[in-house]
Parts: sequence; C-alpha cells; structure tokens
Amino acid sequence: MNSTLEFNDSSITVALVGCGGFIGSHLLRAIFERTSWRVFGVDLDSYRIQEHLANPRFEFLSADLADPEVVKRIAQYPVVVNLAAICTPGRYMAESAEVIRSNYDHPRALADACAQSGSWLIHFSTSEIYGKTAANSGALVEDESEIVFGPVAASRWSYATAKLLTERYLAGLDGLHWTVVRPFNFVGPFMDFMPGVDGDGIPRVLANFSTALVRGESLKLVNGGVAKRCFTSVHDAVDFMFCVFASGEKALSQAFNVGNAANEVSIAELAQLMRSVYAAIKGVHENEVSGVEVISGEEYYGKGYDDSLRRMPSVEKAERLVGFKAKIPLKTALEESLTWFAHHYG
Ligand code: UGA
Repeated sequence: MNSTLEFNDSSITVALVGCGGFIGSHLLRAIFERTSWRVFGVDLDSYRIQEHLANPRFEFLSADLADPEVVKRIAQYPVVVNLAAICTPGRYMAESAEVIRSNYDHPRALADACAQSGSWLIHFSTSEIYGKTAANSGALVEDESEIVFGPVAASRWSYATAKLLTERYLAGLDGLHWTVVRPFNFVGPFMDFMPGVDGDGIPRVLANFSTALVRGESLKLVNGGVAKRCFTSVHDAVDFMFCVFASGEKALSQAFNVGNAANEVSIAELAQLMRSVYAAIKGVHENEVSGVEVISGEEYYGKGYDDSLRRMPSVEKAERLVGFKAKIPLKTALEESLTWFAHHYG
C-alpha cells in the first residue's frame, strides 16, 4: 500500500461506501474540493449528493454491501472508506437482526475482499462501542478503556455489539490494512431526517430536537436528559479524514476517537441551547419557541432501550498520531445545523 496519498494525484480513486449519507455527503464534497481524486461511490440514497452526480470524477452505483459482486468491485480500489450502517438508536431494538447484518455481516465481507486485494479499509465504527458508560466515567481511551454492555434483553446494545465485533474482526484479519474511526455524535446539515417527511421512526437527537422546534412541538428529554454527549461538527470530522489520508502508515492498524471533548453537554443543556439558537434564528424571544418535556426511554423508544450516561472522548491519540484536533464550538455547529434544518424543512 502507498504510504501517503497525494491530494493532487489524479490517478487515485477512492471508494466511498455510504457516500449518500450524512457524513458521506460532506466527505464527498470535500474530496472534490480539496483533491484531484476520483470517487467510486456506493449508496442506496443519492438525494444528498444530487449536485455531484454529473461530475466526471464521480461514478455512483446505487447498491449496497449485501451484493457480493458490489463488494468485489469496491475492493478493486486502493482506498475504501466504509460509512454504510444502520446507526439510529430508534432502530436498534425492533430491528436488531437487521442492525447486526448491516453492522457486522456486510463490513466483514468488505474486509475479507480488501484483505485479498490489498486495499486500505477505513472503517467507520462508533463511539457506542464503549458501551454502557456511567455518569462518572472519564475520558474514553481507544486502547485502554474497558467495555461493559447491558444484558441481551437490552437490545439497544445490538448495534454496539456488532460494531465491536467488526472492529475485532478487522484487527484480527491477516493481511488487512485497516483504520477504524469512532465518531462522537457528529452534527451538521443533512443529519438524519425529519420524521414523516424524508424518513420514519426516531432520528438522533439533533434531528429530533430540530424537528420539534420547526413544528412547534415539545423537545422530549429521555429520562430527564441527564445523559451527556460531546457533539462534534461534521466539518471537523471531514478534516480528520484528510489528516488520516495524509498520514499513511501512522494510521494503519489503529482505532481513533473523533470527537470534541470541549463540546460536552447534557441533553437537557443541549435542548436549552438549541431553543435559544432557534429563537435567535427566528428573531423571537426564547419563550416563544417550543419547551421541553420529560419522557421515559422505554415509552419513547420501546422495550430494550438503555443508554450511555457519559460519552467523552480522549482526543490525545488522534492529535499525536495524525495531528488532528477538533476546533468548531458547539454553538457554531448548532447555528449552522439549525439554520440549514429550518431552511430545508421549514
Ligand atoms: C447514537 C449512535 O448509536 C451512535 O452509534 C452514534 O455514534 C451516535 O449516535 C452519534 O451520533 O455519534 P446516541 O448518542 O445515544 O448514539 O444518539 P442519540 O439518539 O442522538 O441520543 C443522544 C442522547 O439523547 C441519548 O441519551 C438519548 O436518550 C437522548 N435523546 C435522544 C433525547 O433525550 N431526546 C430525543 O429526542 C432523542
């Protein structure tokens, strides 16, 4: 494998699996803007990437990893980024078997093909592999933290179990060049969907709270909104990818947290911040936008819901090995996301 990827080398083609999703669409645009590479993109959805479909540097295939021929085709390219996944907690309970197929069986097939072809597989895992972290847990460290999941009956953990097994598989597979990315609550335009408009079910918290604000409904605080997360702008996430592309061998056989530890808030605090950002966007007083309402996890998501109470990344490894540090403050990221959401759906 080439140790570094030159951004101006037009002979490079990167395969982007899940190029039509939230992260994939931002990464695709950045690749076209910052490099001379070509992209072979695979996804079932293309509505977020319409503007690129006619780009001569882009080949788009509407397909998924369930098809072995598609897997073989993807693995012909020297760099393969796999972003495809079912990754909304609203689906982990009722659809746990499908969640496991999407997050273990499919990436495993792709890993086998990349090991054979010699491609570098950059696989998107999740911060959720750290499991059921307690309210007083400290920063999560890639190669040190111990991991506890809930019981099998708490089917929330179906996703994390599958993602962690995939990570272990990649790490154990002979001959595979791999890098694992563990996103910590990326936010930005195009994240998830608005229920009943371009998707069904319960999206992640940013899209849920944005939907509630636009519709004038209350923001639901699951179990009081005491859980904490470190929200990270998708633009920082894209910058991380370019650090990895440029780092070559330093990123090989490594898993990285990608998050912004300075952006930690409880979900109740996130709701307040989003209310005030939305009021400012609309030019109204905060009292005039939706309020909050407490709901139990089981009532909201169904039986088997469980949660991580704190998810705070150690960011030391990404900085040390590939020179990445997230920069975008939470308020800036929320202003961008909510402005986009209100415009797109409003
Ligand atoms: C999810 C995925 O499972 C992770 O794999 C993924 O990496 C992560 O999102 C992410 O975006 O990076 P989680 O952080 O639990 O994990 O995602 P959310 O559904 O956005 O929930 C965050 C917190 O907000 C949870 O405590 C949840 O109970 C709460 N929540 C969510 C609310 O209080 N109200 C809502 O309307 C939605």
